[in-house]
Amino acid sequence: MKRRTIRFGKAEVALYDSTEELMADAAEELFRTLIEKPKAVLALPTGATFEPFYAYVASNYKERGVSFKDAVAFNIDEYVGLPAGDPESYHTYMRKNLYDKVDMRMENALLPDGNARDLDEETRRYENAIMSQGGIDLEYLGIGVNGHIGFNEPGTPFSSRTHVVELAASTQKANSMYFLGRHTPKRAITLGIGTLMEARRVILMATGERKRDIIGRMLKSGKTERIPASALADNGNAKILIDSGATPPGL
Ligand code: PGA
Repeated sequence: MKRRTIRFGKAEVALYDSTEELMADAAEELFRTLIEKPKAVLALPTGATFEPFYAYVASNYKERGVSFKDAVAFNIDEYVGLPAGDPESYHTYMRKNLYDKVDMRMENALLPDGNARDLDEETRRYENAIMSQGGIDLEYLGIGVNGHIGFNEPGTPFSSRTHVVELAASTQKANSMYFLGRHTPKRAITLGIGTLMEARRVILMATGERKRDIIGRMLKSGKTERIPASALADNGNAKILIDSGATPPGL
């Protein structure tokens, strides 16, 4: 069976047997959006979950008759203190995994500046830039092992706007595998949960056994600020895609 759907509050949850099918369906949402609205405003994440997703998008977009040339893309987050050209910055991740492989115009790829002199001013500027583009049409989210979305760690108010965060110890640990022998960043700029939930379409993707525990806890808990991703329970525009590895027992 390809997939089953259940509900998490107002959000739809799709359970997939295969990660490949999940990636293909997630990419289809992007292709459809860009076909219907070539000037779509996207909000895109980084992380291991999205490497195969972007690879799928880059390999298939031309064949689907899709172009990124008029699209605008924001990023969900960026580290504080890394130059944009650092190999581990999210600027670099986005170029490497997506933008260098599709016909995206780099002037339309808008990431937060984690090196801004005034970080609070940068968070306001970024939030305003989203508003001035008319808001986000389609947003993708990963989920951290502690339930974070973007870098909104447990306890972040659901009403939060774009802000600077101190990363949780578990997040720094998860990120440290990318910073071998280097200092792992302790702060980041992230879209707030309130900002994230205003997108007109939200797709959260969870793959692999590493995510099974947090997905199980989230589905059981209902909406609680202790699990930032549970904000999706109140979001009728949200869809949560889970592969068999991340599916909790009993589902
Ligand atoms: P991952 O990150 O895709 O690398 O697991 C997800 C997240 O922390 O948001």
